[in-house]
Amino acid sequence: MDRTRWYKDAVFYQIWPRSFCDGNGDGIGDLQGVLQKLDYIASLGVTGIWFSPLYPSPQADFGYDIANYYDINPEYGTLDDFKQVLDGAHERGMRLIMDLVVNHTSDECDWFVQSRASKDNPYADWYIWRDGKTPGSPDEGGTPPNNWDSLFEGGAWEYEPNRDQWYLHIFAKKQPDLNMDNPAVRAEVENIMRFWLDMGVDGFREDVITYISKVPELPNDNPLKPAARGMRFYDHGPRVHEYLQQFRQNVLNAYDCMTVGEAPMISPAKALEYCAEGPQQELDMVFTFEHMLADCLFTDWLPRPFDLRQYKRALGRWQTGLAEDAWNALYIENHDHPRIISRYGSEEYREESGKSLACSYLFLRGTPFVYQGQEIGMTNTHLERIEDSVDVSTFNQVRRLQTIGVSESACLQLVNRASRDHARTPMQWSARQGAGFVGGDGTAEPWFPINSNFQDINVEAAEDDPNSLLAFYREAIVLRRRLPVIREGRYREFKRQSHTIFAYAREMPGQRVLVVCSFTDKLSFFSAAKEYDLAKGELCLCNYEDAHAEDNAFFLRPYECRVYLFEE
Ligand code: GLC
Ligand code: CA
Repeated sequence: MDRTRWYKDAVFYQIWPRSFCDGNGDGIGDLQGVLQKLDYIASLGVTGIWFSPLYPSPQADFGYDIANYYDINPEYGTLDDFKQVLDGAHERGMRLIMDLVVNHTSDECDWFVQSRASKDNPYADWYIWRDGKTPGSPDEGGTPPNNWDSLFEGGAWEYEPNRDQWYLHIFAKKQPDLNMDNPAVRAEVENIMRFWLDMGVDGFREDVITYISKVPELPNDNPLKPAARGMRFYDHGPRVHEYLQQFRQNVLNAYDCMTVGEAPMISPAKALEYCAEGPQQELDMVFTFEHMLADCLFTDWLPRPFDLRQYKRALGRWQTGLAEDAWNALYIENHDHPRIISRYGSEEYREESGKSLACSYLFLRGTPFVYQGQEIGMTNTHLERIEDSVDVSTFNQVRRLQTIGVSESACLQLVNRASRDHARTPMQWSARQGAGFVGGDGTAEPWFPINSNFQDINVEAAEDDPNSLLAFYREAIVLRRRLPVIREGRYREFKRQSHTIFAYAREMPGQRVLVVCSFTDKLSFFSAAKEYDLAKGELCLCNYEDAHAEDNAFFLRPYECRVYLFEE
């Protein structure tokens, strides 16, 4: 099968199904809801959909704890509903990729239920079991095999009396890690891939895929590390490349599909080990976190404020670091981060900053992903109490902060600034009761409270306004898809030292694009480099109506952004 690398021309839309659209009126998003919205999704100009997990799951981590990899969560519908959505997407010229979560499963997955039952059953070696350092249950004074932390819930080990052993969980207790060193587990992963690809799915987003191979001795980590002890023994572990190459060769190469791996804390040089094009290539792209570190409890347990220069440096490092040899995945929002306008922009200049943020990444080299609600400028929500959070990782971070003496009210503030909950409020479709998210008569209680600003910020209102952020996303996506320089061109940055302006160009013979984005609510002076005579360019996109193309030096207004096209 020839890989066409179609993903290089794609723009993806990410659906977090629980909060996208509720078709049957029970207050939980579902596939019939998605089906109703396929025309809307296609109207954005996107050419692909990524679904966060749709599989049956106890929802301890909202689907990232999978109980059955071959079916659909009954709350969301059936396999038949899924096939309707898949066909509907394909009919509209959109590909569809699934989330593949194989670092861990749910503890309610049948494999784990059997694995924990005894030491001699067909699944006994499917997870990472070890004897305690000191024998016995924790009550009897037993201690875990090593000192690793889980990223979501205290220590990384849970005791199982049936086996008098401990299992490893890098995430929550209900997310036991699979033993990828077991060939039967890898064969099962290949089976899962084939199952969905044979159905017509176009690829996978692979959850924390850089964690799947652990140093077999599972050594103790430095006890003085404040958090994430153990990570250096499983991030980019000893056999990760071998396993990913196997998956590629045994399965993926037989399909014209694509993969994007989630890779926390990876450098461009490391990314090339996974993504450099050639016979050994393992993944088509990775999601990096470097530009997403500020103001997020998920990536940093004491969130630091946004700094434009850090953001630019991170994006630029990846643009030049992967350049010709590999391909970037581009995003500024997903289900793991608070809303980008609240984080990196300004709620006061919501539409302006939303547009500037859009321009800061949509014209880079790579495949862009847009997260549900980003296109209408949804913002962070407000939680009254820490207990109103529904996010397992937030609980854990708060617990940690409390142990170092951070007060309840300071924790609540952090949660309101930086928790994953903000990305997970229901999609705001209209100003009606239930925000148009709740199906049926709209009266059911949504599974998680709708952001109180839904009467102002919603799809219907944005559709009525030709200058809305939504209209801007549509224009930007169309423009991006029309210009070969966005796929092919070289990346070049200007004004690197500026704390207020992000200016970059994409250049190839015959076509150049200059993007200028302000990140301040003050006026900010900009002068174009001498190779860019703005009077000769076409101003294709701007978030202020009365902008002119002629001056080469001018003041950008609050969060003003401009995209100029030069064709010679
Ligand atoms: C990834 C997912 C996140 C999940 C975690 C554990 O980071 O994006 O939502 O909680 O993996 O599966
Ligand atoms: Ca529903």
